[in-house]
Amino acid sequence: MTRPLVVGNWKMHGLSAQLADIEALGVSMTDRPAKADVLICPPFTLIERAARIAGSFVAIGAQNCHHETSGTWTGEISARMLKDSGASAVIVGHSERRQHQGESSERVAAKANAAVAAGLLAIICIGETQAERAGGGALDACAAQLSLSVPKGIAASAFAIGYEPLWAIGSGQVPTAAQITEMHGHIRQCLVARLGASGNAVRIVYGGSVKPANARSILALSDVGGVLVGGASLKPDEFEAIVRAAAP
Ligand code: 13P
Repeated sequence: MTRPLVVGNWKMHGLSAQLADIEALGVSMTDRPAKADVLICPPFTLIERAARIAGSFVAIGAQNCHHETSGTWTGEISARMLKDSGASAVIVGHSERRQHQGESSERVAAKANAAVAAGLLAIICIGETQAERAGGGALDACAAQLSLSVPKGIAASAFAIGYEPLWAIGSGQVPTAAQITEMHGHIRQCLVARLGASGNAVRIVYGGSVKPANARSILALSDVGGVLVGGASLKPDEFEAIVRAAAP
């Protein structure tokens, strides 16, 4: 069993004052270093400072990267720049970017490729809408996104999948255990069909209204290799409780 991956996605939150929360988490992790991989993805502006103070047991990642290495792309940030700033991972294809920035799955795959080329773990997000779920098309929708968003030829060790049903993000609504198990099993099948046996090693992390109260039961489900936490990652006590649920 690989260690669970616990990711805090701060989204567009966090100023210098919140660096202390990352430092404190790093200190609290010293008693359980080998039990979970903990990753905080603050805004770009905090990455370099966060990476300096996070300590050995908390990694720092980004929430997005550009698909090109460098060039005339005003305002953009490349995966190499993130690596250079101290990041070790990047989330690509979060539904908020797919929705609001119009990112296609093909573009997400290009970003994942750029991330891997720069030496970052790519956390590739997929997830169905409420309408797709209600219409019985959730599995197909996620399989289609997966097939286009995971770059061809990528090594199993270079990426993780974030399954985040859009209707569960920030809503307090969480899929049932059966729904999570079914979806993660389906994603696993798709990964194995694509990568062969090494697809079994890819971590599939669940995201959407993960809280201290539900983290343990979600993490216990088969094929759940971690959690992707939004709102609760901004509350140090709650995030630490989720980390402890993953690394009891
Ligand atoms: P919430 O935990 O706030 O639902 O957000 C989930 C998410 O989008 C993490 O990437």
